[in-house]
Amino acid sequence: MIIEGGNALEGRIRVSGAKNAALPCLAAALLTEEPVTLSNLPAVADIRTMVKVLQALGTGAELTPSAEGFELTAALRCDQPSEHKAPYELVKTMRASVLVLGPLLARFGQATVSLPGGCAIGARPVNLHLEALGRMGARLDIQHGYILGSVPLNEKGQPRLKAIDHTFDMVSVGATENLLMAAALAEGTTIIRNAAQEPEIGDLARLLVKMGARIEGIDTATLTVEGVDRLHGAEHAVIPDRIEAGTYLCAVAAAGGDVVLERVAPDHVRSLLELLERAGCAITERIGQDGPQIRIIRERGQKLRSKDAKTVPFPGFPTDLQAQFMAVMTTAHGISVISEHIFENRFQHAMELERLGANLRIDGPTAIVAGPAPLTGCTVMATDLRASAALVIAGLVAEGKTTVDRIYHLDRGYAGLEKKLQAVGARIERVGGGRV
Ligand code: EPU
Repeated sequence: MIIEGGNALEGRIRVSGAKNAALPCLAAALLTEEPVTLSNLPAVADIRTMVKVLQALGTGAELTPSAEGFELTAALRCDQPSEHKAPYELVKTMRASVLVLGPLLARFGQATVSLPGGCAIGARPVNLHLEALGRMGARLDIQHGYILGSVPLNEKGQPRLKAIDHTFDMVSVGATENLLMAAALAEGTTIIRNAAQEPEIGDLARLLVKMGARIEGIDTATLTVEGVDRLHGAEHAVIPDRIEAGTYLCAVAAAGGDVVLERVAPDHVRSLLELLERAGCAITERIGQDGPQIRIIRERGQKLRSKDAKTVPFPGFPTDLQAQFMAVMTTAHGISVISEHIFENRFQHAMELERLGANLRIDGPTAIVAGPAPLTGCTVMATDLRASAALVIAGLVAEGKTTVDRIYHLDRGYAGLEKKLQAVGARIERVGGGRV
């Protein structure tokens, strides 16, 4: 991706559906033999990977792109027999594949799912998923790099997970999702305490309710799930992507301009909106024809003030916006202290930002950014999805040409990033590297 920095951004950007809501919703299609139709899925590589995982598990899947090609609709039906195996080749490219474990055990009583392996942003074990499913009665072994799971037969001769009262030791988005899906088809009433409250979990829960699940406490830290014998088909449109929205808000805050984000959920990006407002951006919300909108203005020449940020579970400031916010803070006046409390290795963008001229230090989980730094373009390397987005934002500000390498990371999670930015006046161009 080649970016010529210096242009302010003006116009409108439509936010796509949330990748991290779409992924568990796709996995939930395994819970029924009836058709499940999911719309507003972002057209990104991770969605296609999850669809391949579902296909490997015997799911019929048809993807239809929207008119501009930024969204997909998936027509899914998991009614074919299969060996219930999620292979390493797919799981290693996307950790969220492990979300099929709970649904497979709950519906078929059997699962073979590759262990995900290492990750660029932290260790990211799946112990919390395994502990919870194990407590529901699943037998789980690790052999040859795979999680081999099976569920003992109940008195009716059926493999059924048993309800549990479970308190997570720490807040985990994925483990909450796996347990929620498993509990929907378990015997008895499961209580999930210290559940993650990210909006993506609420979205999954709402899809499950449409499929016939009985869930109380949606969007709270305690979910009560009364298991049912079977779930049925449903249609569902996933929520807007709060991290994509946050990324464009950060782009405008850093580069300056006046942009309206369309089809966004303001409450899902509240922590960022408050920070950017306190930093000096003008932010307003209104209801447009197509749903809520956010307008962000940062006048040219207007100084941004440095602000501190600490990543915590929702509704606090999200780890998935830490890198992008750091890019903004390199342009702000003063010292910003940014601490990362979710993943232990999520500062890889910092060294690349330094190559662009940022003045920063890393000390354990804390980054100290002194601004404003005069950024100047160079070649930088993307290391993960959100780090790549931060480098694009810095490139929009930097004087001259910035080349962001390894943009396949961006394609995993941003639908039409360069097209959406071009439409608001950014000089950004894709030169090589496959598109999704
Ligand atoms: N953790 C454990 N054991 C577990 C599970 C998690 O120790 O069994 C730890 C993790 O290592 C991490 C913390 O708990 O330190 C939180 O991890 P969580 O399980 O909440 O993360 P996740 O479900 O693997 C999702 C998103 C991530 C996002 C995190 C945190 C999806 C598909 N992924 O991951 O999104 O950063 O929640 O909000 O929903 C991204 O989109 O770029 C991305 C990385």
